[in-house]
Amino acid sequence: MHIFNQGKYKSLHAQQAGELEHIRQQVLRDTEFRPTYHLAPETGLLNDPNGLVFDGEKYHIFYQWFPYGAMHGMKHWKHLITRDFQHFQEAAPLIPDELFESHGCYSGGALLWQDHIVAFYTGNTRNAENQRIPHQNIAIFTKDGKLLEKRCLLNQAPAGYTEHVRDPKPFVTKEGKIRFVLGAQRENLSGTALIYEMTDLNSTPQLLGELNLSDFDNGHVFMWECPDLLQVQNQDLFIWSPQGKIRESYAFQNNYHATYALGKYQDLHFLAQHVEELDYGFDFYAPQSIQGAEGIYYAWVGLPDLTYPTDEYQWHSMLSLPRQFSIKQGKLYQRPIAQVYAQCLPAKQYQIEGKQQIAHLDQSYLQFNAENQPFTLCFFANEAGQLLILHYQAGILTLDRTHTKQTALMQQFGEQRHCVLGELNKVEIFFDRSIVEIFLNDGEKVMTSRFFIPERENALDSSRPLCVSVAELKPIIFTG
Ligand code: FRU
Repeated sequence: MHIFNQGKYKSLHAQQAGELEHIRQQVLRDTEFRPTYHLAPETGLLNDPNGLVFDGEKYHIFYQWFPYGAMHGMKHWKHLITRDFQHFQEAAPLIPDELFESHGCYSGGALLWQDHIVAFYTGNTRNAENQRIPHQNIAIFTKDGKLLEKRCLLNQAPAGYTEHVRDPKPFVTKEGKIRFVLGAQRENLSGTALIYEMTDLNSTPQLLGELNLSDFDNGHVFMWECPDLLQVQNQDLFIWSPQGKIRESYAFQNNYHATYALGKYQDLHFLAQHVEELDYGFDFYAPQSIQGAEGIYYAWVGLPDLTYPTDEYQWHSMLSLPRQFSIKQGKLYQRPIAQVYAQCLPAKQYQIEGKQQIAHLDQSYLQFNAENQPFTLCFFANEAGQLLILHYQAGILTLDRTHTKQTALMQQFGEQRHCVLGELNKVEIFFDRSIVEIFLNDGEKVMTSRFFIPERENALDSSRPLCVSVAELKPIIFTG
């Protein structure tokens, strides 16, 4: 075992007595923005969901985690286990302590294989010249969450690709072989994904080739992060996070994006029938499906290179609600899973006319029918005039966080996000103190965002009379 401790590359093994407790005290100073029913790091920075797998009884949820502050330092994998998505239990994390992961355990997925949880991940390393050398590794866990062993499978990038080769997501083929899809950058600096195959855990992964995806404009895209191949209702779905798409007024509005292709995957070819962004909000990246759980997935509600107002309290980002993909009339839909709705307390009906106080609005689920008529809703107005605005007119829904607290990096890609719809009927909104997840028309389109309004009032102001149902959500409970 190695105890890495070089600047920001500091592992949990190197912590000083009381160090994390001291950071925890700083996190506790944040009494306004910590979520109650979303997963957020106890200290430090969370990014991608990792190693999501259903073991037949329990769901294993890992995420990228730097424990010591709100920065992208030495990445660990935090490990939680849940049966119901409300009670979560801590299990063994991945702590970088081998030379093949000396600069962090980067993202990847997991499989249930011969009764064990096998996490595939990228060991980030740097050599004496500070050059990045990606390793693809596995970590084997028992189903009750104990770490048994870690091993390196590949100790360099393949020929023809740069050092940006990472984020293996495994799956089992019909023939019972293990394959993983890996994000990559070609030597000509364009993004792609590679497919590797193994006959079993002891064999060396063989590169089968690139995933050949039709109908995606890869111009300017320099890297594909966090690829994931899965099946939803007998259709193939490829989700990934391409970096470099050019910003459009109503699409690709953030710095980086999460996209999907729905179609047919065969022999390294993905014949796409539809390619689109997954989410139209300000903060959404690196979604990953839970292996063996019928299209349930989590995403990081954050983006690379962003800062947030909670950084001063030494915590950064959270995971989305667990959601599920489904297909209706050939289109991909996304909605929170049934267990999330089951965590709602009984709903109250409000007849909103103008401004109205709503108890616990910032921890609640709202639902109404817009009947495709224009509206402007202002949420959480405080005395300083800060508020969050949701505006609908003529097929365009706009989320506006101009009048909220933002960091300069949050502002740099604009303060409004738009979502284009044929028409708008059912609107579902989940608020959890500094996150909003908006599902439109039963999940036809989604907008996920952080927002920060200090000393907010739990009030809603509507431009027109609206009948809104509001239900508070039960908080997540961490068990021993
Ligand atoms: C995506 C990502 C991955 C990488 C990880 C490092 O957000 O950049 O490509 O493995 O984060 O934390």
